Amino acid sequence: MSDRHLSPIDRLIAGLDEGLRTVCANRTRSARPSPADSLSDEGPDEGLSEDEREHAAGLMRINHAGEVAAQALYQSQALTARDRDVAERLQHAADEEVDHLAWCGARLEELGSGPSKLTPLWYGGAFAIGTLAGVAGDRWNLGFVAETERQVCAHLEDHLQRLPESDARSRAVVRQMHTEEAEHGEAATAAGGSELPRPVRDIMWATSRVMAGLAYRF
Ligand SMILES: [Fe+2]
Ligand SMILES: [Fe+2]
Repeated sequence: MSDRHLSPIDRLIAGLDEGLRTVCANRTRSARPSPADSLSDEGPDEGLSEDEREHAAGLMRINHAGEVAAQALYQSQALTARDRDVAERLQHAADEEVDHLAWCGARLEELGSGPSKLTPLWYGGAFAIGTLAGVAGDRWNLGFVAETERQVCAHLEDHLQRLPESDARSRAVVRQMHTEEAEHGEAATAAGGSELPRPVRDIMWATSRVMAGLAYRF
């Protein structure tokens, strides 16, 4: 059945169901292969020292947490959008976010690590904030998505500086995500997103820094 015919309650239940799957799934499946798997050098991680491996895992855990939050954001966005066309136009981005989540999860596993223990918090917090933005109206909802994607790009650029030089597999994942997050932000703006007020953008940035600090370690 098309989402267009679902009541708000049906959509809320469907959104939470998807969320629980995201939070509880051991391994999300991606529609596209990971960019790490397209590298010609298939011998993973032999050049990484133990410290580098741990550092790379911390950074990829931040990215995984960000992708959990992206799931919540796009699900709450779809749930609260007044104009159903808006939700459908962002479906492509939402689908790519599922791949990002799976790629980060797979990379963490390769590095001998796992997702943040605070995953339910990342999902729940982002879902609540995304729903609030949605209640404020479509242009704020879309503006929030656009600003989030812009900030995610900044984090990913920082990670490309900080990841070990020899960690080609993490770098391939982060680079591809960066390209796609930039497109998601542009799509949300093109769909009618307003630029958020400066104080809101600053609070979002500060919150994401705290989240990154926690996800790196826990
Ligand atoms: Fe993403
Ligand atoms: Fe994105």
